Amino acid sequence: MCGIIGYNGYRNAQPVILDGLKRLEYRGYDSAGIGIINKKLQVHKQVGDISRLIDSIPSFTGTIGIGHTRWATHGKVTETNAHPQLNTSKTIAIVHNGIIDNFLELKNHLQQKGYVFQSQTDSEIIAHLIDEHYHKDFQDAILKTIRQLRGSYAIVAISQKDPDTIIAARNESPLVIGIGDNENLVASDIPALLKYTNRVIYLDDGEICILKKKSVTILDSAGTQKQKETHLVTWDVRDAEKAGYPHFMLKEIHEQPHALTQGLVGRISEINRTVSFHEKIERLLRKPIQKIHLIACGTSFYACYIGKYLFEQLTNIPVQIDLASEYRYFSPKQPDAFVIAVTQSGETLDTLGALRTAKKTGCQTLVITNVIGSTATRIANAYLLTQSGPEIGVAATKTFTSQILMLYLLALKIASNQQTISSDDLYHTLIELRELPREVRQILHQTEEIKTLAHNISNSTSLFYIGRGINYPLALEGALKIKEISYIHAEGFAAGELKHGPFALLSPETPVIAIATHDKIFDKMLANIGEIKAR
Ligand code: F6R
Repeated sequence: MCGIIGYNGYRNAQPVILDGLKRLEYRGYDSAGIGIINKKLQVHKQVGDISRLIDSIPSFTGTIGIGHTRWATHGKVTETNAHPQLNTSKTIAIVHNGIIDNFLELKNHLQQKGYVFQSQTDSEIIAHLIDEHYHKDFQDAILKTIRQLRGSYAIVAISQKDPDTIIAARNESPLVIGIGDNENLVASDIPALLKYTNRVIYLDDGEICILKKKSVTILDSAGTQKQKETHLVTWDVRDAEKAGYPHFMLKEIHEQPHALTQGLVGRISEINRTVSFHEKIERLLRKPIQKIHLIACGTSFYACYIGKYLFEQLTNIPVQIDLASEYRYFSPKQPDAFVIAVTQSGETLDTLGALRTAKKTGCQTLVITNVIGSTATRIANAYLLTQSGPEIGVAATKTFTSQILMLYLLALKIASNQQTISSDDLYHTLIELRELPREVRQILHQTEEIKTLAHNISNSTSLFYIGRGINYPLALEGALKIKEISYIHAEGFAAGELKHGPFALLSPETPVIAIATHDKIFDKMLANIGEIKAR
């Protein structure tokens, strides 16, 4: 994952790009670089995080430029491998996120033509290919270049020969255009643009964007101009700042009560005893639903797993859950399934692939996402926004709880449509839901106790999470978060399964976190905890 930004406007580009890179640092930061044109192309690159780039950069002037923060895939972490990558005469600069699958073939072709490579990256071929095709027309050179590329890319390019233009191209890697007044921007993620504009256009696969100071033109891969919708992002630039927290993940954990409140606003009415969504979703839900398929990756998949329990308890509709990466290739074709994809970003490749497969099969599709205008919202028949605010911490926290809330609301809505929930039960559930943000806040007030517990287990090398019912997928998610953030080996188990093998891994040094809530299997959970203590 790399971060990309481009600026073309009236301001000095350097501080805009450096600020954008700071906001994109969460995408990776083993090295970074910036290229600015002021008659001549000026480039500076640095190994390390963005602050090292900022400390070492000379002051470049110029109102057009690009920047990149790298997380190495092809080639070591070196200044030469950092982006921008350049052509031999150092007149063209490109930044790239993605992987070019046919790069060896293209590199051989370019080497036979005499091009000499400086870096070990797959991205450098893009600068040389543009150079090869660049006779008079920058746009034409980019179009010819992207037709040769196979793989995933978000590319932003500038050229000294056309010093007023940025060109961006995308295939399977997100790029968003920010529309300003007398200034336009392009970035891999919205937070990098928010300081300057909240009007955005999302590029689709195969599209390129010609970004001038006063205009933005989108073309398809054949070079034909396209009209695209401009979306208004409701996020504020303050949403993308740490607000006094030491890091974004902690901030986002503490934003859960607010995110849940936002998710409920306008969707539940205790007085009317209703759950309601916008008309497109309402129409989808009015159709008879025989079966539901929930698909996602990672944390979003665990939200789906919890969703399965919720749907099946409330509606009696059979629910299948699939990892998107498996569904794409192995799912049986079931056109009568109602497919709900869950993806915070709306850009996860496997989830997009699975959504496209479901649509091709003839399924009705709904996506639950946090990002308005993201690719998933444009593939699915309808979308439901979690309204959690931007997720910058990378590890999903507030977006996970918001996804579960959305699945719960959908389950309640379908149950109410199908009358598998009584009006009184719905009423009481809605009252409880209204209390949810406050209750989450109470848990977050226990920070000191949580810190002590975390400290006690921080030196463990292995850890178990256990739960039953909806707490089983919650245990899986807990284990994922521990692995991802603490680098401690962790496993989630259904509590009743420990005796079928995993006990072998338990030692007195293995912390076991049991999620035991007052539900119908609370006693069974206590018995499971007893078994563990006995061992
Ligand atoms: C883990 C995490 C990931 C994402 C997964 C799917 O903390 O954040 O597992 O849940 O990569 O991402 P989205 O939801 O954007 O499709």
